[in-house]
Order: sequence, then C-alpha cells, then structure tokens
Amino acid sequence: MSQVLGLLTDRIAWVTGAARGLGEAISRRLAQEGAHVVMTDINQEGVEAAAAAIAKETGRRTLPLYCDVTVEEQTEEVVAKTLETFGRLDILVANAGILIAGELTEIPVADWRKVIEVNLVGYFLSARAAARVMKEQRSGVIIQINSRSGKRGSFRNSAYAASKFGGIGLTQSIALELAPYNVRVNAVCPGDLLDSPLWTESLYEQYAKRWGITPEEVRRRYEQRVPLGRTCTYDDVCNVVVFLASDQASYMTGQAINVTGGQVMS
Ligand SMILES: NC(=O)c1ccc[n+]([C@@H]2O[C@H](COP(=O)([O-])OP(=O)(O)OC[C@H]3O[C@@H](n4cnc5c(N)ncnc54)[C@H](O)[C@@H]3O)[C@@H](O)[C@H]2O)c1
Repeated sequence: MSQVLGLLTDRIAWVTGAARGLGEAISRRLAQEGAHVVMTDINQEGVEAAAAAIAKETGRRTLPLYCDVTVEEQTEEVVAKTLETFGRLDILVANAGILIAGELTEIPVADWRKVIEVNLVGYFLSARAAARVMKEQRSGVIIQINSRSGKRGSFRNSAYAASKFGGIGLTQSIALELAPYNVRVNAVCPGDLLDSPLWTESLYEQYAKRWGITPEEVRRRYEQRVPLGRTCTYDDVCNVVVFLASDQASYMTGQAINVTGGQVMS
C-alpha cells in the first residue's frame, strides 16, 4: 500500500459507484487520509458492506446511501443527507461508470444511450448537486474518474469513449464556471485496471473468445501495450485522486491527468 500522508483530515467526501472496484478503493484511501466518506451506489447491499468495513478499518465515519447517478432527485437527496449528517461537502469523486462494448453497426441504441446516461449525464448530475453546496461554501473539489478512452478512440467501444471524451469537455467547462468560487474540477484518466472485477468477471472472457486466445494471453497482450510494462493498480489511481483532492493541488483545475504507465502522452 502507498504511504498515507493524512492530507485530508476531517474533509467530507462523496464517492459515487462505491460498492466495489475502484470506487470502493478510493473511498478506503480517502478515509485512510482522514476524510469521512459518503459512499453511494445502486448496489445497496454492497455499498453498506463496503462502508461498514472501511469505517471499522479506519475509524472514520462512512455513510452508505442508495443513489442512481442518472436520477437527479437522488443525487440531490445525497447532498441533502450529507449536509444533515456532516454539515458540509468538500470533495466529490464522480466514479460511477459502466462499459457496454459493441460494433458501430450492431450495438443497440438503447445500450449506447445507457452508457452516455450513466457516464456523462450521471457525472453532470452528481457534479451539479455537489456544486450547489460548494459554490456557497466558496470551496470544494470535484474529481471525475475518466479513462484513457477519454483521450483516444476505443476499438468497438464507441459509447464508452464518447462518454469519456464528453466527460473531459464537461470537466473543463465546469472548471471555468466554478473557478471564481474556489471550486476546482479535474479528471483522472486511468489505464486498464487489469485486476479489477470489470476485467476478471467479464472482459478477459469476452476478448479471449473474440480473439481465440486464453484469458492469460489477453492480459499479457494488454500489459505489453504499456510502456511501463504492468497493469494500472488502484493505488496508482488513488495516489493521484488524493493529490488532486488535497491543498497540494490548489493551483490545478480543468485538467485530465493520465495514469496510464505512459500509454497515453497527451
Ligand atoms: N476497470 C478499469 O479497467 C477502468 C479503467 C479506466 C477507468 N475506469 C473507470 O473507473 C470507474 C469505476 O470502474 P470500475 O472498474 O471500478 O467498475 P465496477 O463495475 O467494478 O464498479 C462500478 C460501480 O458503479 C456502480 N454503478 C453502475 N451504474 C450506476 C449508476 N447508474 N448509479 C450509481 N452507481 C452505479 C456499480 O454498481 C458498481 O458498484 C468507471 O468510471 C470506469 O469507467 C475503469
């Protein structure tokens, strides 16, 4: 595990899509850094279990709540409950995201729309609900979990790439709007998290079938594409999230930071 620096003592953070995967890892790391964390997801049971475990491990407070980021009232309700419980909101990590791959001429438009709805509209609604409070406070940090697919097209994965490219446009635009209120907005663009459930429970199998190779070969193929020669880890991403959330990044806004082992250099 990376060194814990205590950079976020008593900050109040909200992480979307926090029941598992990267969202759970970010919630844990923010708590280790001293924050109290509101953890939301559509997987109620999962988010309650993750929140209880993190509170026990870190001694920080966690508040698990049901929230579908595509439903405006639910994002507003999270912010209301956060204020009721903690009195303020300092950090939003807009992490909830889905991936439905498919060829341009095959993918059902309903699937294409769903990806845009969760990854782009969901980010907009979460950021908007958080920003209403942060503007009043005249302080706050919004961080979107984007992807290397937010900067480069992704083969047979147009909905995901379009949603993530859109996320960078949204990040830059609301960074301009919120700068006068001392609210910073940045995105983090991770490379492939090859140990995450997204890969182990679905992508290895899909790609192995498509290319006629084994799941192990799929993994090696992806690792070989990375100049630093290894998978992206939760710690790699959390290190940058903590930095951006902290006062050490107080002169940074409107950025989309690659954490890709050198795979994307723009
Ligand atoms: N796994 C990777 O390789 C990878 C790489 C780059 C970027 N990312 C990004 O990281 C983020 C997290 O991905 P992950 O790999 O942890 O995925 P995951 O599928 O493991 O977790 C996503 C979480 O979001 C929740 N969720 C889905 N739809 C939701 C909705 N409408 N409202 C609220 N919550 C919802 C799910 O229940 C789940 O708990 C995503 O934005 C993804 O695009 C992932």
